[in-house]
Amino acid sequence: MRDFLTTADWERGELQALLDDARLLKEQPMNGRLEGKTIALVFFNPSLRTRTSFDVGIYQMGGHAVTLQPGSGSWPMEFQEGAVMDDVAEEHVKEAARVLSRYCDLIAVRAFPKFQDWSVDREDHVIESFAAHATVPVINMETITHPCQELALMLALQERLGTTDGKKFVLTWTYHPKPLNTAVANSALMIATKFGFETTLLCPTPEYVLDERYMELGKKYAAENGRGLTVTHDIEEAYTGAHVVYAKSWGAIPYFGRWDEERPIRDAHKHFMVDGEKMAMTDGGVFSHCLPARRNVKATDEVFDADYSMIIEEAENRLHVQKALMSRLTGATG
Ligand code: CP
Repeated sequence: MRDFLTTADWERGELQALLDDARLLKEQPMNGRLEGKTIALVFFNPSLRTRTSFDVGIYQMGGHAVTLQPGSGSWPMEFQEGAVMDDVAEEHVKEAARVLSRYCDLIAVRAFPKFQDWSVDREDHVIESFAAHATVPVINMETITHPCQELALMLALQERLGTTDGKKFVLTWTYHPKPLNTAVANSALMIATKFGFETTLLCPTPEYVLDERYMELGKKYAAENGRGLTVTHDIEEAYTGAHVVYAKSWGAIPYFGRWDEERPIRDAHKHFMVDGEKMAMTDGGVFSHCLPARRNVKATDEVFDADYSMIIEEAENRLHVQKALMSRLTGATG
């Protein structure tokens, strides 16, 4: 039995096989691969794309999705080992994961960090608990990484660029009025370096550099491909010659739980917004973002609506890559 918790557990060749199957599924969306199969979609946080694409994807393959929102329509859940459950939680993940495993062939979980203490959040306790107690494969629908988004991004990049090896990928921090999850940024670094990009992380100050776990993985993958992972705070240096500009906002890890102290730094870097002038420095680069995204805050209307923007393609590809993933994890394909 194989989980899909992070792409760090999957080799490039295995991920490429999923992408190749996703291309097939994009051409032939309706099939009976998952006839009689069921997936539980467990959401601790809101979603538009993830919820819809998983639900539609399994339907298109003859299966069925059950969506659960613990605390809102299903019971609030406890995760701590040995907890005295005298607060709001009505059941423990030990029972929930095992019961869902009796009904369903797959369990997918979205559980964002709590944003109070990164040393706690980086353990990814909710999805790790599901994986520990479930007896069917568990899929990460975004926790502290977003591996399904990685696949969708890479499929869109391969469709636009052909080969990715040796091309320049820029992950740029952008302003957002609230501190956001680092998941997509962690994921973008991992997938870009794993697929051979020369990768640059552009962020306002050293405090916005991502967790060392992902920086180290990024450096390792880059080195395996004979490439590098560079950190810069210089906008012009980052954009010059880029083939891909990937935008995301995230909260600075040293300020977890002290967000009022982070705010002045964040507010001083609104100019990191992606605009036409910056994109003009690239080498005919494409732009993307995982969505949802605030227009004229993270990127200008001009950028979102440009021919070089692949935001909708990337979002569409969530459907195709997740169908390939569900097929693979249930044994419907090799
Ligand atoms: N990109 C993404 O995961 O979108 P949702 O939050 O709408 O699911």
